[in-house]
Amino acid sequence: MNIEDLSKELSLVHIQNQTELEQFRIRFLGSKNVLKDLYAALKDIPNEHKRAYGQQVNELKQQAEAIFAASKAALSVSDNQTQKDDLTKPPADPHVGSHHPLSLIRREIIEIFNRIGFVVSEGPEIEDDWHNFSALNFPPEHPARDMQDTFFIEKGEQEWALRTHTSSVQVRVMEQQQPPIRTISPGRVYRNEAISARAHCFFHQVEGLYIDQNVSFADLKQTLLFFAQELFGEQTQIRLRPSYFPFTEPSAEVDVSCSLCAGKGCNVCKYTGWLEIMGCGMVDPNVLESCGIDAEKYSGFAFGMGVERIAQLKYRVTDLRLYSENDLRFLKQFTAGVS
Ligand code: DAH
Repeated sequence: MNIEDLSKELSLVHIQNQTELEQFRIRFLGSKNVLKDLYAALKDIPNEHKRAYGQQVNELKQQAEAIFAASKAALSVSDNQTQKDDLTKPPADPHVGSHHPLSLIRREIIEIFNRIGFVVSEGPEIEDDWHNFSALNFPPEHPARDMQDTFFIEKGEQEWALRTHTSSVQVRVMEQQQPPIRTISPGRVYRNEAISARAHCFFHQVEGLYIDQNVSFADLKQTLLFFAQELFGEQTQIRLRPSYFPFTEPSAEVDVSCSLCAGKGCNVCKYTGWLEIMGCGMVDPNVLESCGIDAEKYSGFAFGMGVERIAQLKYRVTDLRLYSENDLRFLKQFTAGVS
């Protein structure tokens, strides 16, 4: 190869891809490049021509270096361009959002009761005294009506309140529908409480109601056992402790066996082996009659649970405030539930 041929070759070169770029580098700039022969031939050139010859070879080398640098730069730009234009390429950070933990639990509860024929019903968050208290057999002087617990709203003649529980939806359903009734009512409720890790001025409940002929306490117990085992696992046991609610008679608190220690006792269940999850009972005949349902003919059960409480047990959330602070560090932990 002489200077002229190589100069011509360089003037025609057109590098189109990375392979050609590498071939070019090996040929002109690699450890055994073609210019080395030209440099080696320098010793045979007559002295008076050495200077001009050397200069020409140097120029070839500079030209080759310039072509290499320019082609390399052009190819990297076009590589980026191709990447940018590839619409099928997944984005670097798809940034998948997540459902709120309370939505996940609410959905799970609804799905479980759907399987045994319960349908969802909803009611307003701003309620009147009748639906929140009176129809549910609250005596006029009952402490739950006290200013400490209820947010009252003054609007015109009538006094309104933010519902303190989703039991108000039971009343609305029974007023509108005759048995058989099988419904669950998820929703937000409000209490006039100081906000702390263990209490909040709003939270979420799911209410359940089953009214038909010959509904017994055994039906209630079996329904709740089914629910507990679906939610916390097959091994789960329940126990009912006598309690009092104005709208049910008899009434009970429902405990589930602690899924963490399998009932042996741990700090979550305070070494009792049991966790309280809801209230329940047989709907008081007074409530049925208030809602226009014949208490001689029909009977039924009701139950109500806190969604935060269930989420606390399933996800080990110890501070209620986390649910409404919108802290991404908290919320991002629930991406596994995205579907
Ligand atoms: N409404 C009750 C509360 O907010 C929960 C409740 C208890 C609902 C017993 C019921 C029930 O339907 O039968 O504390």
